[in-house]
Amino acid sequence: MTENPKSEVVILGIETSCDETSAAVLLNGTDLRSHVISSQITTHQKYGGVVPEIASREHSLHFQPVVQQALDEAGLTFGDLSAIAVTYGPGLVGSLLVGVSGAKAMAYAAGVPLIGINHLEAHIYANFLEHQDLSFPLLALLVSGGHSHLILFEAHGQYKVLGRTRDDAAGEALDKVARTLGLAYPGGPQIQRVAQEGDAQAYTFPRAMLEPDSLDFSFSGMKSAVLNTLNSARMRGETLSVPDIAASFQQAVVDVLVRKALMALERTNVKTLLLAGGVAANKLLRETLDQSLSVRGVRLVYPSPIYCTDNGAMIATAGYYHYLEGDFAPWTLNAVPGLNLT
Ligand code: KG4
Ligand code: ZN
Repeated sequence: MTENPKSEVVILGIETSCDETSAAVLLNGTDLRSHVISSQITTHQKYGGVVPEIASREHSLHFQPVVQQALDEAGLTFGDLSAIAVTYGPGLVGSLLVGVSGAKAMAYAAGVPLIGINHLEAHIYANFLEHQDLSFPLLALLVSGGHSHLILFEAHGQYKVLGRTRDDAAGEALDKVARTLGLAYPGGPQIQRVAQEGDAQAYTFPRAMLEPDSLDFSFSGMKSAVLNTLNSARMRGETLSVPDIAASFQQAVVDVLVRKALMALERTNVKTLLLAGGVAANKLLRETLDQSLSVRGVRLVYPSPIYCTDNGAMIATAGYYHYLEGDFAPWTLNAVPGLNLT
């Protein structure tokens, strides 16, 4: 693998796993020189969710301009890079392939190493971009559109998944409920917005806790409870308050996430909780955890909202730590849609 004689570590991070084409240039792990995100949300909105075929086509169109813009804004060329880091899973196979094959070609042509990044790991590493004082062990609550995990993060690259969703991810449940309420995709931010006008006590939706000692999640039944409430009301010809439903469901999801996170913290005795993934941008989740953790002497860390949802900066950040370990990918790196953490 190519050796980098430069003292500075310059990573180009690339993300294309779902519906954002993003690239970022990161210097020495914390100095973000550029960050470009081309979102496909408006393209997918009319279908109520991400259409994989359209997503990969959009990535193909935007990939090269996004990367070039990231380099231009950083005032750098390919020759200045130490390595190129790219998401290789989990995600949509066609979308991942655009990023992986593009990054491979660029790294090979530039003569720099290629780094394969697990998207889930990168969400957690988004915390390291803005907080350099994190010390292990750490506990991560990773909640996105595709995943809901509680992870013991013992050292760089060492993860133990303590709990995971057995069905829907938290973001997926929020998106589905939002869709039924007639709110736009992605539903999480819409539920948060509409809930501001609603009463979180108006409806008592179930909180699925599973077995008493389980750190797993289950959001599918909670989602179905909302859909049943809505359908029954419609059959009776009643109209329900969308803000009240949104506020009550958001509260139910947050209650479960907070209770499980507290259980995991108690069990592991870890003193820092990292929030990660798109749902980590949720205000109620942040505020509730903030209150619950401060009285327990546990530190809560979360990324700025822009680094919670999919972005290239988190890929570059994870890439930096892989670079320090000399953990480079072979030129045969392929997309792994079902990639997990362990
Ligand atoms: O991490 P992400 O951008 O993509 C995946 O890797 O899945 O997460 C997207 C998910 C969506 O389900 C979206 O509705 C949710 O994150 N989300 C939120 C908020 N912002 C994004 N959920 C609740 N509150 C938010 N503010
Ligand atoms: Zn993500």
